[in-house]
Amino acid sequence: MTTQILNSRTGSKLPPGPPCHLFGFPELFKLGRDYLGHLQGLQQRYGDVIYMRFGKYRDYSFFHPEQLRELLLSGHDRMIRWERATEVFAAVHGHSVLVAEGKAWNEKRRMLQPGFSPKRVAGFAAAMVEAGSAALASWPDQAQLDLDFEQAMTRVTMDVIMRTLFSSAANAEARLAEEAVRVLSIEGMKEMYWPKSAPLWAPWKTGKRRSMRALDALIRQHIAARKALQGETPDDLLAMLMQLRHEDGQPLSDTELRDECMTTFLAGHETSAAALTWWGWCMAAKPETARLASAEVDRVLQGRTPRFEDLPQLEYLSQTIKETLRLYPAAPALMSRQTTEAIEIAGLTIPAGALIRLTPGVTQRDARWFPEPEAFKPERFAPGAPEIPRGAYMPFGAGPRVCLGSHFAQTEITLIAALLLQRYEIQAVPGEAAPQPVLNITLRPAKPLRLRLLCRA
Ligand code: HEM
Repeated sequence: MTTQILNSRTGSKLPPGPPCHLFGFPELFKLGRDYLGHLQGLQQRYGDVIYMRFGKYRDYSFFHPEQLRELLLSGHDRMIRWERATEVFAAVHGHSVLVAEGKAWNEKRRMLQPGFSPKRVAGFAAAMVEAGSAALASWPDQAQLDLDFEQAMTRVTMDVIMRTLFSSAANAEARLAEEAVRVLSIEGMKEMYWPKSAPLWAPWKTGKRRSMRALDALIRQHIAARKALQGETPDDLLAMLMQLRHEDGQPLSDTELRDECMTTFLAGHETSAAALTWWGWCMAAKPETARLASAEVDRVLQGRTPRFEDLPQLEYLSQTIKETLRLYPAAPALMSRQTTEAIEIAGLTIPAGALIRLTPGVTQRDARWFPEPEAFKPERFAPGAPEIPRGAYMPFGAGPRVCLGSHFAQTEITLIAALLLQRYEIQAVPGEAAPQPVLNITLRPAKPLRLRLLCRA
């Protein structure tokens, strides 16, 4: 099955892969139905490098940790994000750091990086805990509570981003934004599979049109309010963005501010919400692990609310979060890349213009790097555990385009998880099936995930 075939045009060897008849539509259909499951099946059948052909695209998938790292680190300046994905994201994110390429990206990334440094994130910990505590206080005061956990986690992470970006707690407008984000994620994922997006005025785009308007209004209102503010201004991410200067000394324009705020708002809460949702499920599915993590939280916090300084001592809790991000990485497929020049890798020459798929969601469930890959085992990340090969675990990506918000996310998730365990025992709701992951930009349960929270007090 893994014999190499000869590329008739260039004479170079091509890696094995499924036959892609009819411009690759049948394969594309299978990817659209179950992206991760299908790629995992292809890897098991054909190996660590797979070749597919979709219309004009030569499409290479890499699954070996060394090749993932090599491409993301050494190959970074010979790849851009896949132009179609960039188009779909740009419709919502404008030209923010998430979407920009080349010199423009370099300048944005350099300007933004200090605002997300571990030291800066430490200053946001109190706002994260306030958002988490407010969420817990808003839930019914009952001994037992069946909660739409995904929705609850989306609300809390949206509140975190509203407090850290705009110094404003999430309110009624954020509830509208919540629905808008859901609609845009589903629409965005669908659009990726089409060569062009229908114009926004198309009658069947009403949902997307409304959602984009709602989010745009939310962001622009906050920027306008801040610009109108006299006297002392809050020390938040918006203030950081407003202080940035281009190389020519100019501040960000209103559109640039809007675009960066939009990316921070979306990238900053959807992924963390997904991670917390899956973490809740892992705790419910593994009561013994949850008990150990709760005991650690009780021992470290002694009943008080968590602080940034507590994080290094919440070692086991952090391991449960790392293991959750291995099994259910919030962004299991990195944005596909497109080569701008030929790249030599794994004995192959990848031509310019080819697509490169990198899928940590598959590599992180590979038994060669993670024995018993389907089992939830936080101990894999304990000090002294067998070393995980570099490149086998990358929930935040790697290389120059690694997640800008990884410290932010890890801090937020750990603090909120600690608050949850301090107050509740998390259980599955009896009779409800285990959640099935589905890729809608982020990895989400296919159906709303309800969990049972039992008050520990
Ligand atoms: C569990 C939470 C999160 C996960 C798993 C995650 C994952 C990722 C991944 C894998 C990438 C790289 C994508 C690629 O290479 O194609 C990325 C990029 C990015 N993330 Fe995150 N992320 C998380 C939270 C956050 C947060 C909280 C923020 C901001 C507050 C954020 C902001 C960004 C930005 C701006 C980029 C683009 C960076 C660039 O292109 O230079 N992320 N994220």
